Amino acid sequence: MNNYNKKHIGEHALAPESMMLHYGYDPKLSQGAVKCPQFQTSTFVFDSAAHGKDFFNYASGRVEVPEGVEPGLIYSRFNNPVLEILEGRMALWDDAEDCLVTGSGMAAISTTILALSKPGDVVIYAEPIYGGTDTLLNSIMSQYHLQAVGFNSSEGDKGLAIAIAKAASLGPISVVLMETPDNPTNQMIDIAACKVLLDAVEQPDSNKPILAVDNTMYGPIFQQPLSLGADLCIYSLTKYVGGHSDILGGSCSGDKALINKIRAFRNILGTNMDAHTAWLVMRSLETLKIRMLASAEGAEQVVDYLQQHPLVEKIYYPGLLREGDPQYATFKKQCSGCSSTFSFTIKGGEQEAFKVLDAMQMAMLAVSLGGTETLVQHPASMTHSSVPEAHRAEIGITDNLIRISVGIENPADIIADLAQALDAIQ
Ligand SMILES: Cc1ncc(COP(=O)(O)O)c(C=O)c1O
Repeated sequence: MNNYNKKHIGEHALAPESMMLHYGYDPKLSQGAVKCPQFQTSTFVFDSAAHGKDFFNYASGRVEVPEGVEPGLIYSRFNNPVLEILEGRMALWDDAEDCLVTGSGMAAISTTILALSKPGDVVIYAEPIYGGTDTLLNSIMSQYHLQAVGFNSSEGDKGLAIAIAKAASLGPISVVLMETPDNPTNQMIDIAACKVLLDAVEQPDSNKPILAVDNTMYGPIFQQPLSLGADLCIYSLTKYVGGHSDILGGSCSGDKALINKIRAFRNILGTNMDAHTAWLVMRSLETLKIRMLASAEGAEQVVDYLQQHPLVEKIYYPGLLREGDPQYATFKKQCSGCSSTFSFTIKGGEQEAFKVLDAMQMAMLAVSLGGTETLVQHPASMTHSSVPEAHRAEIGITDNLIRISVGIENPADIIADLAQALDAIQ
């Protein structure tokens, strides 16, 4: 007997990758179709006016949904069957109580910050952080009297402790946002140690700061922040989860109360994902694990090649960390492996980096990461160009840094491409 919300077979717990093929979808509701059909509609018909009234009361939170009652569909900015199934499946990867999806990774980040902060609050963030997030925190949120305090991710929880002390004279801390490993220098931050620090923060309203981890770089296959103590796990689904460089999407997972608070903002700000994109992401979820594992294996071989190249100075790849490095223990504790996105510096500066990038024949010169194809880019002049120049070098974004997102091509072909491109600066 099939059960569309099955998480176990007897005592046996199903793995997330298996549940990506069935969980949350009841074929009986869709003419027996094996795959969830597309519900390309903006609005839904009510059985009666009384039902419509009930559904609005539930959706707005004015009335608690009674036990055993389906809250009902209203309008695709609030809910849609495909979105709801996708949210249920995304939550499984991080063993979260709930998840919401958004129109982009930035929509997930900005909706979360807005929902959890009020004017005068402080948002602490680890640097480097994705350039769009940096602009949001330092240029846009300041218009709403939200203050941003950064700390260097290479200083880990010690950096966070300094930022907390700095925030004490500014205002209550609403959210601490971090990428670990960060983009593009792959520095690791100990999530559990950060949570301990945040739980000890005393605030006037007795609220503890919310720890939100942007898990786009390693998740959900190689790292699950919620199991390490984070309150929220955010993704740009545009990257590994979508995985084909053909959609924009975002998500945020965590406990029900927190996600409901953010969902209420999403539904009014209109930062929700559209139904067609949600359907494409559902398809991507079926191959997420095998794509991430395959590209990670390719990246390992590319790293091996770059390590022996005389023109390569430093490779920012956690798999190269060795015992004794302060980041090694964090990496071993937090991650089950490395994803396929990493950066490396070459001998020279911008001119040499550009020569390599322009010489690539198969890998494409484009921002973004986590797609099936290999992409290369120059963080200092592209994804992180909004970070003030003087500050960039301090956080490791130098002019000779190249970021690569290894795809699922044959690794020997990617290495051949890099070899001939590096010859351009010999
Ligand atoms: C780590 C990380 N977080 C968030 C984002 C923003 O995601 P999106 O482009 O889907 O808005 C990006 C985009 O590159 C990213 O790399």
